[in-house]
Amino acid sequence: MKNTITPLFEPLKIGRYTTKNKIFMAPMSRYRALKGGINPESTIEYYTQRATAGLIIAESTQINDASGGINCPGIYNKNQVNSWKKTTTAVHEKGGLIFLQLWHSGRASHKSILPKNCEVIAPSAIPSTQEVITHEGMQIPTVPKALSISEIETLRNEYKQANSYALEAGFDGVEIHAAGGFLIDTFLQETTNNRTDIYGGSLENRFRFLQEVLGDSVKIWGSDRVGIKISPVSSYNDMGKGDVLTTFKYVIERLNTYNLAFLEVNESMPFTEISEKQRSILEELQALYKGTYIANGNYTAETGANRIKEEKATAISYGRFFIANPDLPERFKLNSPMNTLNVDRFYGGDHTGYTDYPFLE
Ligand SMILES: Cc1cc2nc3c(=O)[nH]c(=O)nc-3n(C[C@H](O)[C@H](O)[C@H](O)COP(=O)(O)O)c2cc1C
Repeated sequence: MKNTITPLFEPLKIGRYTTKNKIFMAPMSRYRALKGGINPESTIEYYTQRATAGLIIAESTQINDASGGINCPGIYNKNQVNSWKKTTTAVHEKGGLIFLQLWHSGRASHKSILPKNCEVIAPSAIPSTQEVITHEGMQIPTVPKALSISEIETLRNEYKQANSYALEAGFDGVEIHAAGGFLIDTFLQETTNNRTDIYGGSLENRFRFLQEVLGDSVKIWGSDRVGIKISPVSSYNDMGKGDVLTTFKYVIERLNTYNLAFLEVNESMPFTEISEKQRSILEELQALYKGTYIANGNYTAETGANRIKEEKATAISYGRFFIANPDLPERFKLNSPMNTLNVDRFYGGDHTGYTDYPFLE
């Protein structure tokens, strides 16, 4: 192994767990779930193939039947619990650690993919212009309906239930998805939240829904088994247009009080570059966070190891590299070539581009 990347191979204590390295697998939707939000059998193989990651953060998983994804797995009923249990058991048998990402898409969805009588919802009726995947191809999202207070309470209870089910399914913890312009992110940012009640307006009010979800999650798991993902400078799903520095400084100061398992920060989305200004915002936010900081977005072995060495990240989560290279830590260690990523098979379909990426000989 090249000396320059040894920091990636140090173990890391995260709450009650010790990870075998600092090469984590970022959460990634693969849209292969069967009817009823149940995983296909191949999901067991997909995640166990990647059990040499220090930590797997499994894909965004719906907290109710109207969370707005197409062919996404769910964690809102016992069948889904039993289906996930097969994966968590198999990953544990391989010595892996696996958290589940809890997700609701909020406004980044389309009515045609929701159950009958369900609406696309968000803190405010402010539509996103970024197309989403539907059964009829890519479409502009439906204009969301602004949530009522009682609907927010229902969602909070659904997150709570999803946490309990994730625990029952054998996960080692959860990651709350507060990134990417999905439901929680749209509460946080002022350009997508113009509410005038206790969930909008001030920073404190915009943080309230996340505070409730985190509080409930921590009660179920203990703070050391709850992580969170944010993407402060991302423009994905029409976000990042307001004063993100002020918003996320506040968010991070609040997160500092929780002693969470980790904060995962998506610093740049796939196939995008960030500006100098965005980079300096991220640096300021990273310096403010006191806990375990997982840096994510376009990292290589070298750049990831450097971030850890500079003490600007505790661990690195890799997305696309883990899709194409089930044995990523081994490849990093041996400085081996990477498999070619099959972008066309990111979403949906069978095992092709899912479980058929070759291991090193
Ligand atoms: C196919 C695909 C699916 C993704 N799905 C999710 C997801 O479910 N939840 C999430 O937080 N991020 C998701 N992401 C973003 C990744 O977690 C990660 O932030 C991003 O790919 C940047 O990391 P990378 O440059 O190492 O790929 C997805 C990315 C890809 C490529």
